Amino acid sequence: MIFGAILAGGKGTRMGYTEMPKQFLFLGDKPIIIHTAEKFWLNSKFTKIYVGVPADWIPHTREIFEKYLGKNPKIEIVEGGATRNGTILNIINVIKNAYEITDDDIIVTHDAVRPFLTHRIINENIESALTYGACDTIIPATDTIVFSQDGNFLSEIPDRSKIYLGQTPQSFKINLFLRCYDKLDEKQKSILTDACKVLVLNGEKVKNVYGEDYNIKITTPFDLKIANALLEIGECK
Ligand code: CTP
Repeated sequence: MIFGAILAGGKGTRMGYTEMPKQFLFLGDKPIIIHTAEKFWLNSKFTKIYVGVPADWIPHTREIFEKYLGKNPKIEIVEGGATRNGTILNIINVIKNAYEITDDDIIVTHDAVRPFLTHRIINENIESALTYGACDTIIPATDTIVFSQDGNFLSEIPDRSKIYLGQTPQSFKINLFLRCYDKLDEKQKSILTDACKVLVLNGEKVKNVYGEDYNIKITTPFDLKIANALLEIGECK
């Protein structure tokens, strides 16, 4: 089985003051999270698509999903977690309560605030997770990345040809992810901001899937302006 996990449990603090978390703000004619969910919904390979949101936003999420996508048995709104990985784990718990999971079942996890993912990216994630066990979506860095240990002086300038920027989806076999997560100590778990790092820390192979420059994460008000511009000029198909 192939499950979708749309991660929307965050509060969007870097978006500044808004009356709702950024995933519910409008992009063009509908909320950001609906753009994202539509991409998943159109892919028939998913057994079920889970959307993890803050508990107090569950009623609002149900309302907008019904408005834009109708009553949809393939989509389930669930409570997110305190961290991004917490949201993934909550969704996996719901899946495990509903289905008998085997070692071949995979989950495609994606930031709700990356509405411009493509069907190619989703399909390559599915193929790579089924074949290799795990994959990450990345793009080559175009700027030089510099590393500064203390924030005042440069420590290192890594070779740009080997530097990539992480996007989502990140996809993996559910049981493999859980086995790796269980092996981490509490400190490692608490500083993790990235799901693929759970596998990397355990020495598991993670296959690269190439994303798109326009598969941006809407983090700040500036990003939302860029996203609206991309939508307007149709640069994100
Ligand atoms: N996310 C999540 N559960 C959390 C935290 C984040 O599902 N507890 C999701 C966000 O909703 C978002 C994605 O992870 O779709 C990427 O995270 P980020 O852009 O950092 O979102 P926020 O945590 O909402 O933003 P901020 O750090 O500005 O508060």
